[in-house]
Amino acid sequence: MDIRLEEIPQEEQRPLFEDAGKLGFGSIFTDRMLTINYNKDKGWHDASIEKYKPFSMDPAACVLHYSQEIFEGLKAYVSEDGRVLMFRPEENVRRMNRSAKRMCMPEIPEQDFLKAMKELIVAEKRWIPKAPGTSLYVRPTMLGTEAFLGVHPAAEYLFYIILSPVGPYFKGGFNPVSIYVEDTLVRAAVGGVGDVKTGGNYAASLKAGLKAQEKGFSQVLWLDAKEHKYIEEVGAMNIFLVYGDKLVTPPLNGSILPGITRASILELARDMGYQPEEKAITIDEALEDIKNGKITEVFGAGTAAVVSPVGSLYYRDQNIVINDNQVGDVTKKIYQRLVDIQYGRAEDKFGWVHELGRI
Ligand code: PLP
Ligand code: COI
Repeated sequence: MDIRLEEIPQEEQRPLFEDAGKLGFGSIFTDRMLTINYNKDKGWHDASIEKYKPFSMDPAACVLHYSQEIFEGLKAYVSEDGRVLMFRPEENVRRMNRSAKRMCMPEIPEQDFLKAMKELIVAEKRWIPKAPGTSLYVRPTMLGTEAFLGVHPAAEYLFYIILSPVGPYFKGGFNPVSIYVEDTLVRAAVGGVGDVKTGGNYAASLKAGLKAQEKGFSQVLWLDAKEHKYIEEVGAMNIFLVYGDKLVTPPLNGSILPGITRASILELARDMGYQPEEKAITIDEALEDIKNGKITEVFGAGTAAVVSPVGSLYYRDQNIVINDNQVGDVTKKIYQRLVDIQYGRAEDKFGWVHELGRI
């Protein structure tokens, strides 16, 4: 696959963020994006890295009516010695193709997808921030663009990747977040699309998110759709419960997103001498175990959120504080090991890091 590269004259280039240390999440975009088109006759064609600009789209485009859309989220980093790095990008490529299959969209050959993503990042590398805890967030997206009002898979698609220099996902940075446990509304049910990355899952989560925010909580913890009993995941991250040196996370039951950070932490935990376990756990059991001190820490894990300590869980008028609302030792150690690998500071014994050249 050849990718056309548009040069952007100096005077048309966007100014870089003024202070990378103050970057928030996802509101600044780089000069260029990557686009590839698909139709049934030509397959994937016309790959280009071009100026970041709005799309024009038919008002009947299928994505606008029936949400045939999937996306991914991963990051590029600069190491202290100037190497451009990515963390397990092939896992995001595979997950995007699993999402494509579930949503009846065309898969993208893995090598083409990886090459496209890497070429875009290299072309835009001046945008990768270097301040501690910052990175370049990469957002591959696919939309059904065919114009029609019947309900069937589109015959035409647009795949694109945009890039956003980011700081912490949560305003407080690496500090405990307070979480609202939702016992009525549901994000996803087994058999639905909760285990793939499609926009509708996030639209379905907004109402509970607002409810939590109005009550002063920063995130929602979802329970299973059938019994409203089993812990599933948080809005943008998977969840881990720490029992001393045992790390428990809910199993991939079909309605939880199989997080790449989750999978990495399960491997790292074992390597660090902890005992990771994928086990269904009810909210009642978890709250009881926090109260009786068996659960010593709780944290969330995701690309945007990295490792995020959880300071309290609010469930049915009870606010249960975890570890005195402090960041726990296990959470700190897991966080440190993960980011040290991602930023190229620690040995990458699992072969997770891809090097894209130098800044
Ligand atoms: N769960 C949901 C709903 C998410 O949106 C994310 C973020 O992508 C995750 C979990 C964590 O997944 P990952 O670690 O692959 O970023
Ligand atoms: C991510 O962690 O990459 C996510 O997609 C979470 C969120 C920004 C939707």
